[in-house]
Amino acid sequence: MATTRELQADVDTGTIAFSVNGRSVVVSSSPSQRLSRVLRDELNLTGTKVGCDAGDCGACTVLLDGEPVCACLVAVGQVAGNEITTVEGLQHSPAGARLQHSFLTHGAAQCGACTPGMLVAATALLDKNHAPNESEVMDAIGGVLCRCTGYRKIINAVLDAQSTAAPEVSPESGNAVGQRLIRLDGKKKVEGSEIFGADETPAGALAVRAIRSPHHRARFQFGDLDSFVHDHPGIHAILTAKDVPGRDCYGVIPRFADQPVFAHNEARHRGEAVAAVVGDPAIIEALDPASFPVVWEELPALKEIDAALAPGAPRIHTNREENVLVRGRVVRGNVDRALAEADVTAEGEYETGFVEHAYIEPEAGFARRIGDHIEIQACTQSPYMDRSDIATILGIPPENVRIIPTAVGGGFGAKLDLSVQPFLALAAWHLRKPVRMVYSRTESITSTTKRHPARMRLRAGCTRDGKLLALDFTADFNTGAYSSWGPTVAARVPVHASGPYYVPHYRALTRAVHTNLVPAGAFRGFGVPQAAIAQEQLYDDLADRVGMDRLEFRILNALDDDTPTVTGQVMGEGVGIRACFEALRPKWQAARRQTAEFNSKTTGPLRRGVGMAGMWYGCGNTSLPNPSTVRIGLKRDGRIALHQGAVDIGQGSNTIVTQICADALGAPIDRFDLISGDTALTPDCGKTSASRQTFVTGKAAHMAGTQLRNAVLALVKGCACASIQFEDSRVAVQEKGEIRTLALGDMPLDNHGYVITAEATFDPPTSSLDHDGQGSPYALFGFGAHMAEIEVDTELGTVRVLKVTAAHDVGRAINPTLIEGQIEGGVAQGLGMALMEEFFPGRGENLHDYLIPSAGDIPPVESILIEDPSPIGPFGAKGIGEQAVIPTAPAILNALHDAVGIRLRKIPATPDRVRAAILAAKKTKTGERRG
Ligand code: FES
Ligand code: FES
Repeated sequence: MATTRELQADVDTGTIAFSVNGRSVVVSSSPSQRLSRVLRDELNLTGTKVGCDAGDCGACTVLLDGEPVCACLVAVGQVAGNEITTVEGLQHSPAGARLQHSFLTHGAAQCGACTPGMLVAATALLDKNHAPNESEVMDAIGGVLCRCTGYRKIINAVLDAQSTAAPEVSPESGNAVGQRLIRLDGKKKVEGSEIFGADETPAGALAVRAIRSPHHRARFQFGDLDSFVHDHPGIHAILTAKDVPGRDCYGVIPRFADQPVFAHNEARHRGEAVAAVVGDPAIIEALDPASFPVVWEELPALKEIDAALAPGAPRIHTNREENVLVRGRVVRGNVDRALAEADVTAEGEYETGFVEHAYIEPEAGFARRIGDHIEIQACTQSPYMDRSDIATILGIPPENVRIIPTAVGGGFGAKLDLSVQPFLALAAWHLRKPVRMVYSRTESITSTTKRHPARMRLRAGCTRDGKLLALDFTADFNTGAYSSWGPTVAARVPVHASGPYYVPHYRALTRAVHTNLVPAGAFRGFGVPQAAIAQEQLYDDLADRVGMDRLEFRILNALDDDTPTVTGQVMGEGVGIRACFEALRPKWQAARRQTAEFNSKTTGPLRRGVGMAGMWYGCGNTSLPNPSTVRIGLKRDGRIALHQGAVDIGQGSNTIVTQICADALGAPIDRFDLISGDTALTPDCGKTSASRQTFVTGKAAHMAGTQLRNAVLALVKGCACASIQFEDSRVAVQEKGEIRTLALGDMPLDNHGYVITAEATFDPPTSSLDHDGQGSPYALFGFGAHMAEIEVDTELGTVRVLKVTAAHDVGRAINPTLIEGQIEGGVAQGLGMALMEEFFPGRGENLHDYLIPSAGDIPPVESILIEDPSPIGPFGAKGIGEQAVIPTAPAILNALHDAVGIRLRKIPATPDRVRAAILAAKKTKTGERRG
């Protein structure tokens, strides 16, 4: 062990000595270099993550002599002679090792990007306090942000870390579905060895940096780029639109593709790239973008929907009249007549803003050219879509592009679109050298897609006994400068804006409108969360007007198996919304009583309220092909290779798909070797979005597993009832007391290198929608309902959520722990959307000003899992990813109305808006009394 004296910064040699995870190290960095950089780049301890480089996210938390610090804010010179502990060193600490295990058994790590920081912060607590209470845990991890889990499982993992370790679930053959299996990729996440986009750098890689528009709209002209390269040693090239060898136009929906890699003459939004500089990493890092030779001419920008739609407004894309990207329409019955004849009507107008995805891992990756092929390793939700767009951009066949997804540190929809990939591809292609690109937090927020701001108007009518008759819904979505997922939002919302209710007369019209703002794209729910905010509040108003209990109103109108949806689809089976509401009924009644009691007794400024909201969500693409293909191979050693290309962005598809496949095949989970998303190794499982992986890829895995089982049985002439035992180098089939074996080591290998290969494709059966949006857009829906209990400080306007109870019909809970994790994470994002999150392009492009919920904001969440099996889902399963976020915000907003009688037209319900609305309501009341 080195002495403290030896562990010093040596000014003479320019070295700094300290200890990391009990090992002495000497580095030769500048003393002012961030400790996080030294740990990652020089010591290869990439378990320490960088989410912001500004002290806002806590992902880089390490222990400095036992105290948690943000390594991005500590200069390495400051740690000379000190002891640093990173996530990689936690297994040597008793508390750290117990925490790692507890995180696994509790499902506290989803994407894993925050996990190292969380574990380190929690270790510091447990080292000093062996039995912390909940608020001490929340304090300890309060500086570390998590965007996936909703914190509850993390808090519980820390609280339980000192108890006897829970045994790991290890189900027998055929018994994996329904088990709380530890996620198969969990160990790497808690040990810090998981590889995210920024965690690998090929030797000699150059760095890439984009030059982006500082204006919402600007014409630009480059200066002398050749001289700039010549005058800056270490800069190898500048790439612009003229360096795109293929078609300089990409987009997630090919029919609407409109985005160039680099703007041509005019930037259509702030943050749009106009050029990329490629060079030695140190030079690129030190590059001041202001020194880049480009002259900007700022132009008047269209930022609001109304301005973009105004007659004579300049067109952002010349071929799109009125700046309308696309319109959506679902019409059924005669809505005008039904509203005119309704006993009771209610109407409203609601607006929501941009919401930033705020995943903890900014976009990152590297690329290299191999002959006439290109390989890109980066964080992505959609490897095959990336492959196709990169091939188009480079002008090469898709087979010449290999996409290797890294672990994804949160995506929620934004990593469906290209980010670093085209810059990496072009740089590697032209320079024939490996290149790497890592977005800064500001670059990530400025340039990547957001949740669509929505402006919604709606009117609904019902009979005097509460039967819904009609809903008239219109919505405009600010889709920003490029199409991204605007068409999907415009198409999906009209199908869902009724909520999970029978509405015989219905009209929903939507428009996605271009502006000169950052493109809006996919964000958990594709516009449905915004629509639910409007529709669920309106239904509360209707219930109040007919004098009905708000939950009973919903139960009365809930869809059943045999009632048609607003597109005329009759599901026949698996419509579990009524069961969700009924599961909440006793809790609702108790919460209503307790709230009334509290409000009748309180004398201070606090008022409580309870709110309810329902939701439904179609799994998979809307009326479009949506296939997944899964391949499994039996190896000579008796192990089973599962090639599943569904990218696990933290939601757990690696585990869930394996559980499904294992039970279909009848093999134990620990026989499987997982080969995940790599376009050279896995067939296309489509994108990870629209809550489709459990359903679509899970179904393909079920089919492939069944196929392999049948192939084995056919080889031994066994019947379907036989049991199969997978053993080392052999398979034993037992039937009526007789055992027949396959000696795998003697069997020939097929083209895939397996003894037997099974491959299956599943594409959900849907039908296209007619002019009125009638048809069957989805093969199945997930259903759910949330109840929020809140407390409002009527003087400050602050809202505290006390509890959320969430009932979800998941068809079949393949892995209850992972499903609860999705629900709790969805609740946290819904809470953020309801109360605090709004992004203003050009302002607060960091995690300091853009607030997402931290541990202290999250209430207890009780999940109730309803299993009304889908006839088509694997083992009856339905999706849960998007479903979980949809009802939280409207439930909170309904609780706000319940507590203080206000309806906010503009969401989020920030304290200033709540306080202003309370004061306005008071004024109106006083005026009414005087009048
Ligand atoms: S990276 Fe250090 S706090 Fe975010
Ligand atoms: S698990 Fe916490 S950010 Fe993903």
